[in-house]
Order: sequence, then C-alpha cells, then structure tokens
Amino acid sequence: SWTTGSIVEEQVAAIRAQIGEGRAICGLSGGVDSAVAAALVNRAIGDRLTCVYVDHGLMREGETEQVEKDFVAATGVRLRVVDASERFLTALAGVSDPEQKRKIIGREFIRVFEQAQAELVAEAGAAGEDVSFLVQGTLYPDVVESGGGTGTANIKSHHNVGGLPEDLEFELVEPLRRLFKDEVRMVGQELGLPEEIVHRQPFPGPGLGIRIVGEVTRERLDLLRQADAIVREELTAAGLDREIWQCPVVLLADVRSVGVQGDGRTYGHPVVLRPVTSEDAMTADWSRLPYDLLARISTRITNEVRDVNRVTLDITSKPPGTIEWE
Ligand code: XMP
Repeated sequence: SWTTGSIVEEQVAAIRAQIGEGRAICGLSGGVDSAVAAALVNRAIGDRLTCVYVDHGLMREGETEQVEKDFVAATGVRLRVVDASERFLTALAGVSDPEQKRKIIGREFIRVFEQAQAELVAEAGAAGEDVSFLVQGTLYPDVVESGGGTGTANIKSHHNVGGLPEDLEFELVEPLRRLFKDEVRMVGQELGLPEEIVHRQPFPGPGLGIRIVGEVTRERLDLLRQADAIVREELTAAGLDREIWQCPVVLLADVRSVGVQGDGRTYGHPVVLRPVTSEDAMTADWSRLPYDLLARISTRITNEVRDVNRVTLDITSKPPGTIEWE
C-alpha cells in the first residue's frame, strides 16, 4: 500500500543517514522483527550489512532453512550461520529445571553471538573496514516499556580466540522503533519476505528446549520436531493459522505411557497439544479446535512418530496455566 511503501522509503532514508558509509551487523532469530529490521537495513546499505544466525539446534523443522535459504533468497542479504547445536546440547546435558534451561540457553546464545560479532569486526578490521552499527528489531511497545532510551551497546566478548577485540562498542540501529507488530508484518510483506516469516506465530527464544519436560537430548528433540511439524501442517491445512495465537506441542519426556502400536505393546511418551487463542499472551484461552482435526493430528502423530503413543489436549486457560509448560 501507499502508506507501507512510504514507511519503507522513510526508514531506508533514515538508515542511510544514520549509517552513512559504515557497516552493520544484525542478529537473526527466525522471528519477524529481526527479519524485517534486517531486510530494511539491507535495502538501505546492501552488503555493508552482515546478518548472523545462531543455530542453537532447538528450532522447529524447517525454520533454520527458512532463514538460511528463503530469507536470503528474498533479500540477497549477506548471512553468516553459526551451527552451535552441539555446544547447546552439551551445556543442557542433565538439566531439567525450566529456569535453569532458560539461563543456560540465554548465556550460550550471547556467547556464541558475541564471538561471531567479534570475528566479523576483526575480519573487517583486517580489510581496513569498520563495523560500528548493530541492528535491533525493537518495536514501539518495547520502546515505551523500557522508557524510550536509545544509544549504544557495549559488548564484552567472551572469546578465547587470539586477536579479537576485547570490548566492542556499537551504535544501535532500530528501524522498527515507531512501529507496531501489524505494521512490521506489513513492511515485511512490502519487502517481499517469505509468508512463513512475516506471519510466524510467537515462538520462544529458548525454542524446543522448554517444550521438552525433562532433559533435552538430540533424540527427544527429533521426536518433538516430528510431532510439532505434523501439528503445524494440519493446522495450516485446516486454515486455522490466523485463528489461533500459537500451539505449543510439548513432549513429556520423563513420563512414559503404555500403548499398542503395530505388532505389540510399546512403552513410549505422551505429547500435549496446547492450542491457545489470545490477544497479547498475557491471558489466553484454550482453542476449541474441531474434533476431526484433533483426531487427524492424533492419528498421524501416533502412526508417524516412533516412541509417541499418546496425544493429549491441554484445556487450561491462562491464568492459571501459562501458555508454555515450562
Ligand atoms: P507463557 O508461557 O508465559 O508465555 O504464558 C507467554 C508468551 O511468551 C512466550 N515465551 C517466551 N518467549 N522466551 C521467549 O522469547 C521465553 O523464555 C519464553 N517463555 C514463554 C510464549 O511462547 C508465549 O507466546
């Protein structure tokens, strides 16, 4: 539309004015905000922007590829992917407590991201260039909540590789500071970003790590990823993506249930479907999904996902139940 087009033009001009001939880094999370912020800055300064995507191994099926392939194809952005899944799994070994998981994932994420930043800064420095801007997908509601300040990010790098700068200081570029979520999606659409990114439902930063009740292991992640992919596929086929707020699928990894599958008794795990409707995630109600859709999901998961022999439905509103199980 004319309005969205003018937001893009205005922001591109503002970004050019701020960055000048400089260089910038932007972290991509797979979510809509960072993707749109990156796409705007990319439109403004082209390959003087480098995006960094940390693959923590806790994403759902296809999501890393959406960033690596589809987002890059749509924008032509310069992207560095850091595969850190081994590191995250090692750090999470033996941990079941939800807050502990969050702390570990958050800590490792910052370390890996800052290491990548430091390497990019060092590489640019070696080529006689200077990376001094950091792009963030801060939205208007975040600005209001945090009191409206803007400025710089001081980053201590936790690297142990020689020759990297000890402290990095970046000036922040926040092209979404005046926008609400729906406007961000419109801008993303205007910039030609993939539908799956522009209309992605909320997904927690710690990813599937907080949807496995119990220890996070590669095998458990694989199970959950398969079950989750089936649920998303069926919800999309039923045309319900815009009706529901999100639908976590939770693996009760420490619970075992008996089943009869194929030619014998099995001793597997239950999964929980948690479809919710909500305006802002502060409160939520469980979605009254059609029974035939639930039946299809249940049949497919128990047929297609080895070791899952029971599908249950969470019918708790928020409050008292949170949206996520952890
Ligand atoms: P709860 O479970 O608190 O979730 O009702 C509310 C919304 O927040 C998301 N969520 C998270 N997002 N990091 C995130 O980035 C987290 O640790 C986290 N925990 C919950 C959840 O998916 C829902 O949209």
